[in-house]
Amino acid sequence: MFGMPGVGKGTQGALLSDYYEIPKLSTGEILRHEIENGTDVGIRVAQIMHEGGLVPDHVVEFIVRSRIYSEDCNRGFILDGFPRTLNQAVYLDSLLIEKGWFNSILIVYLRIDEVKLSSRILGRFLCASCGNIFHENFNSSVKVSGCSRCGSLDFMHRDDDEKEKIRNRIKIYQEQTFPLIEFYKNRHGFLVVDADANIEVVFKNITFFVNKHFDLCN
Ligand code: AP5
Repeated sequence: MFGMPGVGKGTQGALLSDYYEIPKLSTGEILRHEIENGTDVGIRVAQIMHEGGLVPDHVVEFIVRSRIYSEDCNRGFILDGFPRTLNQAVYLDSLLIEKGWFNSILIVYLRIDEVKLSSRILGRFLCASCGNIFHENFNSSVKVSGCSRCGSLDFMHRDDDEKEKIRNRIKIYQEQTFPLIEFYKNRHGFLVVDADANIEVVFKNITFFVNKHFDLCN
């Protein structure tokens, strides 16, 4: 699943993960954990992520490779935020061929009008305990009632969710990730979803496509 920063990849990824009971592999989330835990990888990528830049391909490729080979991914998985460069897309193909899953991949491109992104990102807050994603406009009540997933009352903002860094992330997306549309657009199993719609409608459109695709394949 790919699309601009703030388009809703993490939100849809979490819903899809619950619905299909398969893990969501968010490279952004994994990297943020590495930073929090002060690992070697975390130390190396902290500054890049703080500025909204892209972490080197070989670092994320290694992370994705090890996750895909974990047992909990045997029934499938949702990739959120990977691939993000053409090199990563080529790498993912090689990984899927190696696993015999090349024909089972579905690519979901979440498309949005760029002007909507800032308010989505600037209003975002996360559960500090489980990472569940919320928005000030729709979910501020959880600050009193607790996270809808784990009940925690501890919430946080991401340190790359600032105006200047958002601009940088969008610019990098346009330069490095946008070309993936060309790379994937003629593949069987490529879906463009209007992510301007509300969360439930976007979810319905994705699941309709996924269910139909796998019904047709069975
Ligand atoms: P990552 O964590 O992937 O950040 P991102 O791509 O910038 O995307 P976001 O997480 O900001 O947004 P999202 O699309 O998940 O939106 P969300 O669902 O939260 O990556 C962070 C960093 O890690 C990168 O900058 C890079 O440094 C590094 N990195 C990660 N992967 C990498 C890779 N492959 N290669 C190199 N570097 C990598 O939604 C946003 C808000 O909108 C929320 O508040 C939500 O409630 C709300 N919302 C969601 N959907 C809707 C809707 N339909 N209507 C209204 N509101 C909505």
